[in-house]
Amino acid sequence: MCGIFVYVGTRNGIRIAIDGLKKVEYRGYDSAGIAFIEKGKIVCKKAVGKLKNLEEKLGDETATTVIAHTRWATHGKPTEENAHPILDAKGSVAVIHNGIIENYMQLREELEREGVKFRTETDTEVISNLIATVYKGDLLKAVQEMMPLIKGAWAIAVIHKDHPDECIVAKNSAPLVLGIGVGETFAASDPNALVHHTREVIYLSDGEVARIRPQGAELFDAEHLPISKQVEQIKHSVEEFSKGQFEHYTLKEIYEQPQAMRNAMLSRFFEDYGTVALDDLFLKPAELLAVKRIVIVAAGTSLHAGMIARYMLEEISRIPTSIEIASEFRYRNPIVEDGTLVIAISQSGETADTIAAVRELKAKGATIIALCNVQGTTLTRDADYTFFLRAGPEIGVCSTKAFTSQLTVLALFSLMMARLRHMSKLEGKEFLIALEAVPEQIETVLAQAMAIQHLADKYAHLNDFFFIGRRYMYPTCLEAALKLKEISYINANGYAAGELKHGPIALLNPHCPTFALCADQVTYDKIISNVLEAKARHSPIIALAFNDDERLHTIANDLILIPKTRDEFAPILASVVCQLFAYFCAKKRGADIDQPRNLAKSVTVE
Ligand code: G6P
Repeated sequence: MCGIFVYVGTRNGIRIAIDGLKKVEYRGYDSAGIAFIEKGKIVCKKAVGKLKNLEEKLGDETATTVIAHTRWATHGKPTEENAHPILDAKGSVAVIHNGIIENYMQLREELEREGVKFRTETDTEVISNLIATVYKGDLLKAVQEMMPLIKGAWAIAVIHKDHPDECIVAKNSAPLVLGIGVGETFAASDPNALVHHTREVIYLSDGEVARIRPQGAELFDAEHLPISKQVEQIKHSVEEFSKGQFEHYTLKEIYEQPQAMRNAMLSRFFEDYGTVALDDLFLKPAELLAVKRIVIVAAGTSLHAGMIARYMLEEISRIPTSIEIASEFRYRNPIVEDGTLVIAISQSGETADTIAAVRELKAKGATIIALCNVQGTTLTRDADYTFFLRAGPEIGVCSTKAFTSQLTVLALFSLMMARLRHMSKLEGKEFLIALEAVPEQIETVLAQAMAIQHLADKYAHLNDFFFIGRRYMYPTCLEAALKLKEISYINANGYAAGELKHGPIALLNPHCPTFALCADQVTYDKIISNVLEAKARHSPIIALAFNDDERLHTIANDLILIPKTRDEFAPILASVVCQLFAYFCAKKRGADIDQPRNLAKSVTVE
């Protein structure tokens, strides 16, 4: 998962490309590079590390055709040689590439046998060399000839020293979007990178190729036939992509959650009828009633949203639900019975593991609903139906507002399924009234940010944490621990509180705090016992509970109170606390919050 940005126009594209790369830097940031053509030669500038290192290397170069790349290393270490663009052995072709070429070893051996000398450890180098080998004066043709030879998921942009005014782009199972400007054309891994220049975009489909020039893009299908595609409009505003008054995107996105949640709910329910109408779900009530089993597939934070949804779908909708780690699920031989509905959750809609699991399930006849934040992605195209989260662009690498928006849409979906089955109008109404109150309750939590910062300052020096919880609070703990790991690099474990005594309790000591999420009414008495067990092992106790709590202030070293809500929605409020806690711990430790080490926001490789 790397970031691609291409400019072909009449202005100096170097600055434009660097600014474009900043918008896709979340996709990978271990090295970066650009290439352009100068006096019939390809010039390549690369640097290891963040984009600013590349910027420092640039002088006053100018170029009107520029390909630019930010890398998350898969094949070969993050060195300058392995950074893209990758040239062919003769230096005629430069390629930037997002994805993986699965058969690159075989291709490399064949090329080496023909005398081609390789200089990098990347899989990408086979692409530039294959193109150079088949090139006979027409770059488009050469790329088209090369494409059937490579296997895997990839998006590429290619320039040739003899074609100063064009770039060829193509994709297969990795995102690529064209931006159509006036006298200039762009390509990027993410439409968000284009919004400063144009709102008119064309999403490339798998197997399609485009020749982009200043005057526009010519498109071709997999059979090399010219095609025309619909030009779509980017809806987000430029402000949505800026940090505004916030120090980090992550903090901005944490604070955007009340609004994101309101957006997720907007026009999707009828309070008077206690029910839900999800746009884009064209399944008839009879078809929804025929659902006998739900399988949720997801990765990372989206997986945790799915785990919380399972409790809701089983408890209120009474539908057997399983939650599956996408990367594991695809390698089982899943059993898909009649009446299986799949919910694939992915903020980005590009997570390779989730997409692969969906394809496997689809091939076996399951109906797929996607929950996505980004429009026009691979997952939304593969799914039968998509519910958009409407959270707005999430730029911080760790997921915050997308998570709470996922929980909101999943709550609405659970209610819809419950109302179709056994839930009364009155119960449905009560559920909705409670859900509608949550955005304001998040605001109450955000108002405690300073207290949460003090708490983080007190504990941020420690290196091990446990988060414990039961029922809805259990997956909430997994997400809280993930946040702390991701952005503050603190070793944190999320545990079902009842499991603590089966081993992990051995790790508790005065330097290993227990963060107990106690905002679950059904299991409250049980978790109090677990907290006491941890306290008896001298673990400092940070407790989170509803604001009518009467017991924890005498037990916990520190107590955070959240507004009272139904157990189903407590994960949203508790997660906002834990996001802030992780954010302030990371800040205290001086970590790179928006772009944590080794991570990338969109994981388009297995
Ligand atoms: C990456 C990100 C996580 C995210 C996960 C799944 O690992 O760093 O924040 O939760 O991918 O992403 P998705 O876009 O499928 O929700």
